[in-house]
Amino acid sequence: MATTLPASKVIYNLGPLSRIPAGEGRTFQVEDTPIAVFHTRSGNIFATQAFCPHKGGPLSDGIVGSHKVICPLHAYKFDLETGEQVGNACEKLKTYPITLNEAGNLLLTLI
Ligand code: FES
Repeated sequence: MATTLPASKVIYNLGPLSRIPAGEGRTFQVEDTPIAVFHTRSGNIFATQAFCPHKGGPLSDGIVGSHKVICPLHAYKFDLETGEQVGNACEKLKTYPITLNEAGNLLLTLI
């Protein structure tokens, strides 16, 4: 379900956080945009572009830890909060605001 806000922001309810085990990620197709959503072992949630800017690796299949994801194809590391690369020359990941509502559902904002 989508809610349209002023300034072209749209919030999408992606369902319960319990769909994503802690320490893992999942890919969601939101309209035309594939989004990777991560649930860290410390309980934080992050959303980024779904595919690695290096060669298109599926980031939600990467190793998630300490606010970082390691791409499953060539092991480039990215900060999940800022999208910045860590120790490689790859371009930055696009990140998206994501929160939980009182029912425990993931609310993603596309701008
Ligand atoms: S495709 Fe992600 S590091 Fe190469």
